[in-house]
Amino acid sequence: MNEPIPIEDWPARLERVIADHDGLWKRVFVLRETDSTQDAARRMNAVAGDVFVAWRQTSGRGRMGRVWADTGEGGVAVTFAVTAGAFSLPVLSVASAVGAARALEQLAGRSIDIKWPNDLEVDGKKLAGILIEQSGDVALIGIGINVSQREWPQDIANRAVSMAELGASVDRLDVLAALLPALDAALHMDAEQLKGAYAMRDVLRGKSAAFSTGDREVSGRVTEIDPLRGLLVRTAAGDQWLEAALTTVIAISR
Ligand code: BTN
Repeated sequence: MNEPIPIEDWPARLERVIADHDGLWKRVFVLRETDSTQDAARRMNAVAGDVFVAWRQTSGRGRMGRVWADTGEGGVAVTFAVTAGAFSLPVLSVASAVGAARALEQLAGRSIDIKWPNDLEVDGKKLAGILIEQSGDVALIGIGINVSQREWPQDIANRAVSMAELGASVDRLDVLAALLPALDAALHMDAEQLKGAYAMRDVLRGKSAAFSTGDREVSGRVTEIDPLRGLLVRTAAGDQWLEAALTTVIAISR
């Protein structure tokens, strides 16, 4: 791995990417160290079009109250602010996963899986995670990507993978520079394009899994996924549609 590109070079490069693409992103804030880019965005009264990037994020948050490990200088932590009313939650969720997957596929030169609803995985190990929250009239899309880590906290050592471990020796700034336009492009896809882009990367269809959906748990074989609507699951009690916005995977059995 070459020397990391210094933080001093990040703002100008990312501003150039934004200027070259003339899309959703308007301003970028590069933070040397922050607890969570999601919380930094709230504290800084994010407006649609703002992007918050951390050189180091120390207390990242994940979905379902989970934590996202300290990025150190090895991971990307970024939050994008969009107008909440402009996209439904399922569209934000699917478009974020598709956009991030496409950016990382370009850099890694290989396909990347999406596990419901929007974890990015390779061979069952997590490469990136996405957290979407609302703050006033903006939705905050938080994306964490494992880039150059080769050592992991013990609790995630068997479940995490980085771009470096996949053989892609890329700088975090190059990951961000690819992610900005890729996320913008995915947020401009129509429903059919999003469904197709999701389906070709989806790892859950055909598998048996346990889900939490609303206030209940459901187990069964996934027979269909419409990422904008939900999952059709064949349970002992018959087929059930589990609503996209309410459903998360507890465990996959096979
Ligand atoms: C998950 O897999 O549960 C979602 C993880 C999301 C982590 C990212 S890192 C950038 C942004 N800031 C946070 O505190 N969380 C998200």
